[in-house]
Amino acid sequence: MNALTPTVIVSELDRYIIGQDQAKRAVAIAIRNRWRRQQIPGELRNEVAPKNIIMIGPTGVGKTEIARRLAGLVKAPFVKVEASKYTEVGYVGRDVESIIRELTEISINMVRAEHAAEVEAKAVEAAEERLLDLLIPAADWSDDDTDRTEQRRRTREKMRRKLRDGALEDRPVELKVEERLVPVQIFGAMGMEQMDVDLQNMFDKIMPGQSRDRKLTVAEARHVLMGQECEKLIDRQKVTEEAIERVENSGIVFLDELDKVAGRESGHGPDVSREGVQRDLLPIVEGCGVATKHGMVHTDHVLFIAAGAFHVSKPSDLIPEMQGRFPIRVELQALTRDDFVRILTEPDNALTKQYQAMLATENVKTKFTKTGIREIAEMAALVNERSENIGARRLHTVMEKLLEDVSFRAPDPSIGSVLVDAKYVQEKLKDIIADEDLSKYIL
Ligand SMILES: Nc1ncnc2c1ncn2[C@@H]1O[C@H](COP(=O)(O)OP(=O)(O)OP(=O)(O)O)[C@@H](O)[C@H]1O
Ligand SMILES: [Mg+2]
Repeated sequence: MNALTPTVIVSELDRYIIGQDQAKRAVAIAIRNRWRRQQIPGELRNEVAPKNIIMIGPTGVGKTEIARRLAGLVKAPFVKVEASKYTEVGYVGRDVESIIRELTEISINMVRAEHAAEVEAKAVEAAEERLLDLLIPAADWSDDDTDRTEQRRRTREKMRRKLRDGALEDRPVELKVEERLVPVQIFGAMGMEQMDVDLQNMFDKIMPGQSRDRKLTVAEARHVLMGQECEKLIDRQKVTEEAIERVENSGIVFLDELDKVAGRESGHGPDVSREGVQRDLLPIVEGCGVATKHGMVHTDHVLFIAAGAFHVSKPSDLIPEMQGRFPIRVELQALTRDDFVRILTEPDNALTKQYQAMLATENVKTKFTKTGIREIAEMAALVNERSENIGARRLHTVMEKLLEDVSFRAPDPSIGSVLVDAKYVQEKLKDIIADEDLSKYIL
């Protein structure tokens, strides 16, 4: 975290997202501010509120992508939710807390995985010893003849070598395995999330795990034993404490489609519930305690990044309290032809690179020329202008159509290699582009 300065964050985001510098800067500062806050000694630390962000911009220009890449980068607990999902009648009120429960669950898994990695070496050792116990029939302990002891030791070492060489992977062993019947899932499926707080614990108590002897191969048994040994070595209490601490201080909630719930009460229609959702979200955004099955989680320092097109409604249509909790507004720009050219080629995960790699698996070599790329960008922009502007998503549909023929014919050796130049692009797409109606459906 120490190394993640705003400049570093932005340059990492640059690897995947073209342009949108303002938004990148804003999120980078917000992330760094979490770290800065935690360096502040004493009382003042608790006074620093997170500077929540609203990203405003048309569809398909990188809002979600920025948030997604950011989360991967900072290794903070991260959850993405759609604000509009919480409009359903009956869900209003209670359900917004499930955002924090989900975030906590993610954090728990994250911390547990880290702890598991720390004890892995030890668990591997312990699992190996137990596998050897299973493979070598129980010794006769009353017998303390030194020769026999020595012999047993040698057998064990021989077995160990075989085991490490992988020669015993398919051999069957018998092992006690805990099986737990968890009826809680049924409740989960019914959407009664509020019940999950105590119910899980309750069921765990009512229905103790059942042990059963099962025949497994060595490979399967190792997996089970590793799990059991890890479980023994990990301090659950510590995991929980650390996970909650992490949610409270570095959790990030990405609140998509906030514009869909913007709008004040107008007395009738869906607006009533829109304001309702905002009112429900408010305590969480402002900071409150949420009961989770791992304990109380305080949201005062959780960072919220909201996003929306705000075509119809404006951020000023949000209720005033909400506006105040999102002091940073950044606008993302509509993407130009030049952006498309860069998006097609520059990011680590650029579409041209993806298609090249995919076709390479079929021994088809694909080359995109500069003019070819320009032509693809041109056509994508054209279709965006003429039908609906769906931003960079248009590149996906255009590329798919462009290479459909090759994708289908591969690995036919007659393809050889494909040269995507301006002529190729025009030939493949001109009929569709020329026919406005057709392009609406196909591209
Ligand atoms: N600036 C960009 N640079 C690189 N790729 C981009 C950019 N903008 C969008 N994309 C690509 O386009 C697709 C859609 O982007 P994204 O999901 O971020 O859109 P969005 O802004 O969240 O739109 P919406 O408002 O519809 O949710 C993704 O595959 C993403 O990789
Ligand atoms: Mg999005």
